[in-house]
Amino acid sequence: MSSALLIRNLSQIATPIGRAGLRGAAMRKIAVHEKSVIVVRDGRIDYVGPERRTDFPIPEDFDAKRGTAVPGFVDSHTHLPWAGFRESEFNRRLQGESYEEIAASDGGIASTVRATRAATEQQLVDNVLQRAQTMSRHGTTTAEAKSGYGLNVVDEIKQLRAIRAANENSPVRLVPTCLAAHDFPPESRGTAYVDQIVDEILPAVSREKLAVFCDAFVERSAFSREQGERVLRAGLALGLRPRLHADEFSDSDGAALAATLEAASADHLMHISEKGIAALAKSNTVANLLPATSFFLMSQRYAPARALIDAGAIVSLSTDCNPGSSMTESMSMVMQLATLQMKMTVEESLTAATLNGAASLGLAYETGSIEAGKRADIVLLDAPNYLHLVYHFGVNLVRDVFRDGTIVARSR
Ligand code: NIG
Ligand code: FE
Repeated sequence: MSSALLIRNLSQIATPIGRAGLRGAAMRKIAVHEKSVIVVRDGRIDYVGPERRTDFPIPEDFDAKRGTAVPGFVDSHTHLPWAGFRESEFNRRLQGESYEEIAASDGGIASTVRATRAATEQQLVDNVLQRAQTMSRHGTTTAEAKSGYGLNVVDEIKQLRAIRAANENSPVRLVPTCLAAHDFPPESRGTAYVDQIVDEILPAVSREKLAVFCDAFVERSAFSREQGERVLRAGLALGLRPRLHADEFSDSDGAALAATLEAASADHLMHISEKGIAALAKSNTVANLLPATSFFLMSQRYAPARALIDAGAIVSLSTDCNPGSSMTESMSMVMQLATLQMKMTVEESLTAATLNGAASLGLAYETGSIEAGKRADIVLLDAPNYLHLVYHFGVNLVRDVFRDGTIVARSR
């Protein structure tokens, strides 16, 4: 059955334009429509522009109450299927211990691995759904979700099955990534675990078609560049596209590795080198920046967003939502940090939080902008224009959220 919807009484529509990631100066060129409407047909955007009432009779009318429409946010880096929280570690960090010190004393990722292994698949499904609802209320319509707190065949598969099951009922479209190479499990350090990822975990994930991407944490405290490359090449051979946690706590040459492997994204990049910036600028690998992680770790060090954009890289923004280093689902918070701390413009941040995130997930032809032909993933803000997304900080301006043309969240 065909359905149609007219979204009218909009104060503004603000959106990047395109079906691929935008790089450099193009990130700033968003389209701003005043006095316009959006027509949605069968879950897709059919028309954006001035109202032409006589042209097409539309059965359903949606009053946007002078709000602003922006594309649904695309959060292309999250660690959603976890169990247990780490608020006491957070409190220790507030007393002066560092994230890496806590991780070295059996806290950090290892404590979430213990809680996640002890959880049932259904508990993880419930956790993912609860977080997806919060994300949706904050305007996210598509999110990547990683495993990486199982670190063995059974528990990595359990996390990925939980993402798949949650996706059936989730207001947010979920895209799964296998991050078995997140850390070494306590029972198997070094090459033995890398062998297990390559010989057992990735083949099992691929057999059940549980992931689209394969990720690895290349860092002095985690996997070496060589180990990371081995895992990502093994994933690639099984049809899983690489993404990479790169240069988060030290320059590990991760950005250049991501570019060499033609990875979908290189993420974090707080310690990226000049060489890494040049490599990403020349590549189609999206530089995925996660400023909420710097903020939450109380670091003065943010990724060099200006240098990356000015060099011509495709830059996206994500939450990194996880219980240790970034406990937030809010993409507008991330945009506020991107502008106020990393000196991105509001227009660049909007492109980074929508179309460029979609590009890193291979979905830029489907979502990430308000244009005829794309899925109707649209957020209506309680704001007269898009600048309020950053200007009016610390509150949730999201009023209504459409995914595939259906209302999935109504915040106020
Ligand atoms: O992206 N870098 C590694 N992984 C996460 C942190 C995960 C955790 O602390 O549980 C990150 O920051
Ligand atoms: Fe992460």
